[in-house]
Amino acid sequence: MRKSKLDRFYQRTIDERIEALIAENYLEDQSIAEFKDSLILPAEVANHMIENQIGTYHLPLGLGLHFLIDGNEYLIPMATEEPSVIAAACFAAKTIRRAGGFTTEVSERVMIGQIALKDIKDKVKAIDAVKAAEEEIITIANEAHPSIVKRGGGACNIKLRWIDEDIEQDTPSLLVIHLHVKTLEAMGANIINTMVEAVKPYLESITDGKAIMGILSNYATECLATARCHIPVDILARHGLSGIEVRDRIIEASQFAIADPYRAVTNNKGIMNGIDALVIATGNDSRAIEAGAHAYAARSGQYRSLSKWTKADNGDLLGELSLPLPVGTVGGSISIHPGAKFTHQILGFPDAKQLESIIVSLGLAQNFAAIRALVTDGIQKGHMALQAKSLAISSGATGDEIQKVARALRREKHMNLKTAREILLKLREDDQ
Ligand code: MEV
Repeated sequence: MRKSKLDRFYQRTIDERIEALIAENYLEDQSIAEFKDSLILPAEVANHMIENQIGTYHLPLGLGLHFLIDGNEYLIPMATEEPSVIAAACFAAKTIRRAGGFTTEVSERVMIGQIALKDIKDKVKAIDAVKAAEEEIITIANEAHPSIVKRGGGACNIKLRWIDEDIEQDTPSLLVIHLHVKTLEAMGANIINTMVEAVKPYLESITDGKAIMGILSNYATECLATARCHIPVDILARHGLSGIEVRDRIIEASQFAIADPYRAVTNNKGIMNGIDALVIATGNDSRAIEAGAHAYAARSGQYRSLSKWTKADNGDLLGELSLPLPVGTVGGSISIHPGAKFTHQILGFPDAKQLESIIVSLGLAQNFAAIRALVTDGIQKGHMALQAKSLAISSGATGDEIQKVARALRREKHMNLKTAREILLKLREDDQ
């Protein structure tokens, strides 16, 4: 990281931060005002993005700093309403950077489309017919979306799943055909939905079954990303606790989240604090990522932590996080939302695989920061400072008043909006 200009980023004014980004060539040479304008979603575009549009709903956009991923430096744009998420990500990234950064592994990007057939009279015959017709199915799918084939992607194979009737659940037996599709830089929902709808009648005709539907599956088990980090204990020591103690507590916290679904959900929520913020900022579909991530967390039959922290042979703390990340760098709102155009620029226009590497690393950073805080100081200490700032803003404080009200509020026994308003009133009276 070219530290000089971005140093103490959080202590600067918004304009100074933008100036620093321009000076460091992260942004095109433009004025601060031009930059701010360039992030605004024009009413005309918003009106075409959804139905019944009446306005736009804004989220703060911040930067995760200090990220070193596979040897590359990144400034990570994060859109989030939650205080402390970005501060936590920066802290974790700084520590992990001192330990050599994140390393990642990304599988081939293959997305899944499903066609479910019911009323199959002869299971064996239907399965054999579909297997024999694999080439034809792929041809029909690819003819329905030739442009992805021209770009080097397209449907590549099929997989069959038979689901038995379940009397208790009142569900029929189903033959489910998975169409595997390489969607290249796109998340691929439209490509896949076009393809599965095109093959649906053909599948009905060769199986004598009735299609319930053809649709993309957001459980993208063929599009997985993994991030790892290894942190020496000497950089883990904290407030009277040795690095070994902190490491062992983090490992225990991880074991708790693997064993207990109630803890696993909160642990994974912390991971998604980072992941969602980046997925939203890059114009991707956060609901698709959330749904897939939670299904993946339950793949053993029990909902568990998505991450795992263990001890390496040399005593280092090892962190690992894997999840499906079917994101894209083109298509959907990515190419039309000015905010998304900016975030892809600040990330250095990563391709979809690189974007997956960045997202999964951010998730691991977020998890490290959360559980390290939980097993040492607790999270309230840091949260209260940010909560005080939020209350100060809600009370009507502006400019310098925000820090003054927040500082005074933290000295109070009860930190609430009423007290914040009283402090602000007194501050303004004293200043007159
Ligand atoms: C809060 O948004 C997220 C945490 O609860 C995550 C966790 O408990 O690991 C701090």
